[in-house]
Amino acid sequence: MAGRIPQSFINDLLQRIDIVDLIDSRVKLTKAGKSWKACCPFHQEKTPSFNVNSERGIYKCFGCGAGGTALTFLMEHDRMEFVEAVEALAAIAHVEVPREGGGRVEKPDTGLYELLDKAAKLYREALRDHPEAIDYLKGRGLDGRTAARYGIGFAPPGWDFLKTRLDVDPDRMVAAGLVARNDAGRTYDRFRHRIMFPIRDSRGRVVAFGGRLLSDAGEGPKYLNSPETPVFHKARELYGLYEARHSAQRGSGLDRLIVVEGYMDVVALSRNGIRNAVATLGTAVGTEHFERLYRNVSEVVCCFDGDRAGRQAAWRALEASLPSLRDGRQCKFVFLPEGEDPDSLVGSEGREHLEDLITASKPAGDYLVDSLSEGLDLTSMDARARLCELAKPFVSRIPRGVLRRLLVDRLARIAELDPDAIDPPSADIDQRRLEEPPPPDPGPAPAARTTGLDRRLLRCLLQEPSLFGKLDTSLVRALLGETDDDSLFLRVARWAAKDGDADASVLLARFVHEPFYNELRDLADTERMLDADALEAEFVGGVRHYLGECERRRRLALVDSIRNAPTKENIARYLNASRAARNRTGGADVETSPEAEGLTAK
Ligand code: CTP
Ligand code: MN
Repeated sequence: MAGRIPQSFINDLLQRIDIVDLIDSRVKLTKAGKSWKACCPFHQEKTPSFNVNSERGIYKCFGCGAGGTALTFLMEHDRMEFVEAVEALAAIAHVEVPREGGGRVEKPDTGLYELLDKAAKLYREALRDHPEAIDYLKGRGLDGRTAARYGIGFAPPGWDFLKTRLDVDPDRMVAAGLVARNDAGRTYDRFRHRIMFPIRDSRGRVVAFGGRLLSDAGEGPKYLNSPETPVFHKARELYGLYEARHSAQRGSGLDRLIVVEGYMDVVALSRNGIRNAVATLGTAVGTEHFERLYRNVSEVVCCFDGDRAGRQAAWRALEASLPSLRDGRQCKFVFLPEGEDPDSLVGSEGREHLEDLITASKPAGDYLVDSLSEGLDLTSMDARARLCELAKPFVSRIPRGVLRRLLVDRLARIAELDPDAIDPPSADIDQRRLEEPPPPDPGPAPAARTTGLDRRLLRCLLQEPSLFGKLDTSLVRALLGETDDDSLFLRVARWAAKDGDADASVLLARFVHEPFYNELRDLADTERMLDADALEAEFVGGVRHYLGECERRRRLALVDSIRNAPTKENIARYLNASRAARNRTGGADVETSPEAEGLTAK
């Protein structure tokens, strides 16, 4: 269990946060003398009595008395939990939340930077001495200047290249992520026989490495990254950002950043004159990344691989971008042809082709509406209303402003609704909160039932909705005939049946309103271990098993009903069910209950 968050950290954090920035992104503030003003978001009013003082880091409403710090604001306005709010502020300030009683190192140890820098230098030198590595890079179209620009190096084969050259305490090497320790306590070089991409922070210091195998047949995964260390937090860093900013200083300023999936995409684009690409480090693009990106540019273009994973990554990126889309910021999406990534495409089609694609990229709003409309027949009023329902939770995550308004207006036109019905002004919400009696406590949300089997099936389906099409008609019929509404799998399967060949992300988006959305999303995000054939076998076999289980449960319920009331009707129902099951399976694997068979009606 994580310990308490030290109060000193919170005080310090509040010092670092600009409360005006924070509140302004949610409630438009106007300058009034030394402080800032707005109509209070916590009560209904026509003249502004809500004041924000940047210097003191507090807000106060003279109308309703609401007041507090950045922390209370997030809790009251964004309805965050305490820890969640602290974490949100920490993310803005780019610090880690420490816990009392151990856990995080508070101040990164500057010695680690030095160590990582030395390692980068050794790797660069080793590249010069290893023709096989140089040939590999040349074979991938790179030249010496690009390699130098990104400080690309080589980790030779063997377990102790770094260990023998860096004369430091093994514990420090482990802390820097350069060396790993096995169960027996022995240490060895983490990166072996790999092309090394140093990852630099915004100040250009090497904080980590990504390493690629020289051949796909090598030992271990194709790419290996440094673990999290006191100086490296995956969710925050972007590969190539330092280099992009650096080259922009010399040339024209940076006005747009292109987010790609891989190290090789970044360096290949750079080699071809596109020097503003960055990549995440084997993680999805998150909200922190977007905040980071928008601190540098106002336009971000996501350009992911033209495959299933790439499309899924695009949808995740869209979701993650929404809270950052304040006025003046743009997020756009490029969809590459199936099987291509930016590296392969710039190689085969050239720089201009890629630049054209980037220029023609799809704005986030279009992408959102298009994706949610997929599989809906928008000629029907119902479907149009449904589209709006689906879009609402996404819209509400965009800060209020022009973009949000445009999107709402567009949805309103599609559904022929009043825009305010889709996205009520915040004052309205508060007004309603004041006037309406509080809604009755609904109690805990009805928990959807998910067994291990459900989760396995859901994972298959959410990763590959087209699997539904692999079921033969009798299975489809049996499945859709089931009426167990508590089953999460059944609910998702019904949509998969309806949506035909919907993209996985679209299938997932159907459930944004549901309390189990996060659970589904986690399942969709789990790493895919099986190839297509194995996945199909797992799914089809799993569905059979699932139906068998439904059957069994039904019969057990009937047995129970006989036990409670051994009436003719109940016994007949039980025998019918058994007979039907036997017919379906040709007599196999249906056990009837001898207890029930032997019963006679009273
Ligand atoms: N990645 C990773 N671990 C893996 C595979 C990939 O961390 N086992 C990350 C790396 O950051 C990599 C990115 O995902 O750069 C993209 O992976 P992928 O598309 O598989 O590779 P490419 O970038 O196309 O690499 P290459 O062209 O070198 O095969
Ligand atoms: Mn590639």
